Amino acid sequence: MKRTLLLFALLLATTFSAVADKGMWLPSLISSRIKDMKSKGFKLSAEDIYSVNQASLKDAVVLFDGGCTGEIVSEKGLLLTNHHCGYDAIQALSSVDHDYLTNGFWAMNHDEELYCPGLKVHILVRMEEVTERIAAGETKEQIIAKAEAEGIGYRAKVESMYYGNMAYLFIYREFSDVRLVGAPPTTIGKFGADNDNWIWPRHTGDFSVFRIYANENNEPAEYSASNKPYTPARHFQISTKGIKEGDFTMIYGFPGNTQEYITSDAVKYISELSDPLKIHFRTERLDIIGAAQAQSPKTRIQYAAKQANIANAWKKWQGEVKGINRLGTYNKKLAYEAKFRKENPEKAYLLDSLKAAYERNMEGYFNYELYSETLRGIELQQVVAIAKSEKLSDEQKQAAAELFYKDFDVNVDRQLAVAMLKEYEKYGTFISEELKALFAQHGGAEGYANWLYDNTSLSTLEGFNIESAKSDAMAEFAAAVAPIQQRIKAYTYRNFSNIPDIERWFRPYVKALMEWDKKRAFFPDANLTLRVAYGKVAGYEYADGEWHLPQTTLEGIIAKDNPEIYDYNVPQALRDAYATKDYGRWGVEMYGKYTVPVCFIATNHTTGGNSGSPVLNNKGELIGVNFDRTWLSTMSDIEFDETLCRNIICDIRYVLFVVDKVGGAGWLIEEMGL
Ligand code: ARG
Ligand code: ASP
Repeated sequence: MKRTLLLFALLLATTFSAVADKGMWLPSLISSRIKDMKSKGFKLSAEDIYSVNQASLKDAVVLFDGGCTGEIVSEKGLLLTNHHCGYDAIQALSSVDHDYLTNGFWAMNHDEELYCPGLKVHILVRMEEVTERIAAGETKEQIIAKAEAEGIGYRAKVESMYYGNMAYLFIYREFSDVRLVGAPPTTIGKFGADNDNWIWPRHTGDFSVFRIYANENNEPAEYSASNKPYTPARHFQISTKGIKEGDFTMIYGFPGNTQEYITSDAVKYISELSDPLKIHFRTERLDIIGAAQAQSPKTRIQYAAKQANIANAWKKWQGEVKGINRLGTYNKKLAYEAKFRKENPEKAYLLDSLKAAYERNMEGYFNYELYSETLRGIELQQVVAIAKSEKLSDEQKQAAAELFYKDFDVNVDRQLAVAMLKEYEKYGTFISEELKALFAQHGGAEGYANWLYDNTSLSTLEGFNIESAKSDAMAEFAAAVAPIQQRIKAYTYRNFSNIPDIERWFRPYVKALMEWDKKRAFFPDANLTLRVAYGKVAGYEYADGEWHLPQTTLEGIIAKDNPEIYDYNVPQALRDAYATKDYGRWGVEMYGKYTVPVCFIATNHTTGGNSGSPVLNNKGELIGVNFDRTWLSTMSDIEFDETLCRNIICDIRYVLFVVDKVGGAGWLIEEMGL
């Protein structure tokens, strides 16, 4: 066992040779990339990026709210992330009277900063390979328990890399007192909204500002008025010098999920079955929610975060299917597999085994995805779970219910239930006997859904009662769904290929690929662990004869201004600044005009989770906040196309301009050392 492990490490060292910009690298192994990075202009060392012995850039990067990235930009724990990453927190603090989404929010001193219940950030203490410890018989749980006992607020995770060929321990400090410091109005932070989402050229000021608080010993602590701003081991210096085509860029963050090494069968599943159906279900849900939002300002706020979440992947999957088809990913994979078979006949059985494993698990994985996209979206079930919880006190249950109903509209949920139960009736082969019986009693899914909402007494907070909720019609529904949840559990993994019965074959397959395909750069697929990707600022050919420049400016915002359309209704403060060219220290000459830079694109390999990530120049200084990819990049989780894939970044100078000129929060600019 030991011997093969060692061989795997050796294999990694020898395959780390390619020079493309593709790849998301583990910071603790970055020394193997540093030569390539330096040849592309990087000036720092591997130790500057990641070190366990001294403060390094990694100490300034945070996992934000369990799915995004953020960066610390002052010695007082000031944090930048995306507006869309802070959206849940900003929305939860908002009401029709305090509409921080529409109006923005700016604290003018520490006392005005708003605590965000439930919001957590994690800072990596260190990572280390534990493949051998696991091989020697230690369990993940034992490794985690030992690591968490090392320090106050420590949280640990063991993650597998290369489909189980390596295991890594990640130890974080978990901070749960995080406060909102600033957010631009939606018309800046979400400018262009779903129309412009996944699109370049882009003009979104997708940033928000938070602060980490700690106890008097600078340790993680629950919220307390006496907590103090956290002093980080390291924070990012900001560069306002600007960027140009070809400049080195590096991104440091928490990419969530890529599937670089999957076989043709998995590509087919994604592009022909999974994505098209998920898009179809989400179209229905978005139609229902959008219509309700258009009718009521209250519903618009209540469902703002939910709508944005549903719409985001909905649009991405459409681009992904197009991209996979355009690149011919399926056929390329087939050809690659044929070549592998021909050159490694003794290992061809790995591909056969993978194929059989995909077939065996497809129905289960499909039912898991189906459940996630249909039944899980019926929200009123959640109050039954609250009422029945064994962990919560009655007081906590009441509080949780209040939080739930704050953003709930029963008419929306009823329509969602009708639509999603009908879809489940059509496709769900893991349907329970109980749910089947309920459908049958009420003349099918639609009849049952309507009966359910006519007969539940949980429609409003006033109707909610902990005891009666347990025997409500909604409780009967939840009980009928429970066996389905039980059955799909076996398939609940990050990706289709991570189901143990499939991964078991992926592990030797990926290893065999590494031994065979020496020219390929084998980075471990993203799994929400800290990674470094690097590349350069670059435009690209969008279509024949149509080149896209790498930077946008305020001119483009003003060109899109339309007071009639909510998403393009530019705030007056920006219009005024534009009219008088009052850009203060943030104005620049660009494309032959005096203007303000807004966004730029680069060739960094990114994915969901990289949102909010610091984008750094060759000296490790902050030049922007990552937030998206372009339309022609949406398939990059499956096939990254070097010539076309671009990540989209909010220029730090636009962030500063908005904080200063729109927010009037000059004290933050000063705090950032500018
Ligand atoms: N596409 C970006 C990402 O995947 C931004 C999403 C936020 N915007 C939205 N309209 N939902 O996170
Ligand atoms: N917008 C994404 C995020 O939230 C980033 C991406 O998918 O490119 O992480």
